[in-house]
Amino acid sequence: MEILIIGAGAMGGLFGAMLGPFAQVRLCTTNAEHALAINRDGLLLTGMDGALRRVPVTALTDPAQSDRPADLILVCTKARSTEAAAQTARQLLAEDGLTLTLQNGLGNLERIAAVVGPARAAAGITAQAATLLGPGRVRHAGVGPTVLAAAPGQSGQSGQGGKIAAVAELFNRASVETRIAEDGEALLWSKLIVNVGINALTALLRAANGALAQVPECERLMAQAVAEAVAVGQALGVNLGPEDQLDRVRQVCTLTAANRSSMLQDILRGRPTEIDVINGAVVAKGREVGVAAPVNALLTQLIQALEATASQRI
Ligand code: PAF
Repeated sequence: MEILIIGAGAMGGLFGAMLGPFAQVRLCTTNAEHALAINRDGLLLTGMDGALRRVPVTALTDPAQSDRPADLILVCTKARSTEAAAQTARQLLAEDGLTLTLQNGLGNLERIAAVVGPARAAAGITAQAATLLGPGRVRHAGVGPTVLAAAPGQSGQSGQGGKIAAVAELFNRASVETRIAEDGEALLWSKLIVNVGINALTALLRAANGALAQVPECERLMAQAVAEAVAVGQALGVNLGPEDQLDRVRQVCTLTAANRSSMLQDILRGRPTEIDVINGAVVAKGREVGVAAPVNALLTQLIQALEATASQRI
């Protein structure tokens, strides 16, 4: 299978390194130094066991450098780059190919589907964890399930189910434990609720994920943010199932206790965060269905203020 990964950060790099021995993998990145190291030395993956593996893959810094279409495009960029990634996907995706978003936040799937066509867009979430160590170097930081689903309304259409099954089969062969879910919207909301509970709070508190489940003062805030997101999702008719959502978020905190969330990493690097597509999206969707989300609104404003004062930190 010809795979193109757009966004070669920690997650894109990890998927590139894991899939590299099982498919033809190319990574598309705007980071020229990273691309140079990958093309010279391959991706250097430090596995969960500490062993170092060199995986020969190719990196492109410009989609125009591609000489062949991709059967599968994985979008692993930040949400602010989704539009650009979708345009690249439109250029480089095979006629019968599939674009799979593994990004955080709401709205990515819709934006990709609008550009490549709904029949060629699918949803994914992953609990794998990775850290970018430097140009061409990635560390596998945690193992967890990956779940794929057809875009809403597409499961029975255009052979999308068969393509998703082939992708899941390849991922499993490459030791990326993967299953398929029926409801793409519910899948994306299940990940959104985790990010709503964890990301902004860890970024504001400068704490690793585990603190939110261990410290009652933190857990109370997490519970309020999660309860609002659940109320908004339910008002929109998203089928969140019988599972207690706060318990699920607590479990993720425990399983990823030592992780620095992606939003904390963005704040520590002085980069813009994905707040608008996470807590901000809960507020915006809540407005559409008349459900107030004041805790998420406050978290959104606090993170926006943190971003805006990055150069004034004491
Ligand atoms: O964005 C993140 O950091 C991750 O999605 C998660 C699951 C919160 C773990 O850190």
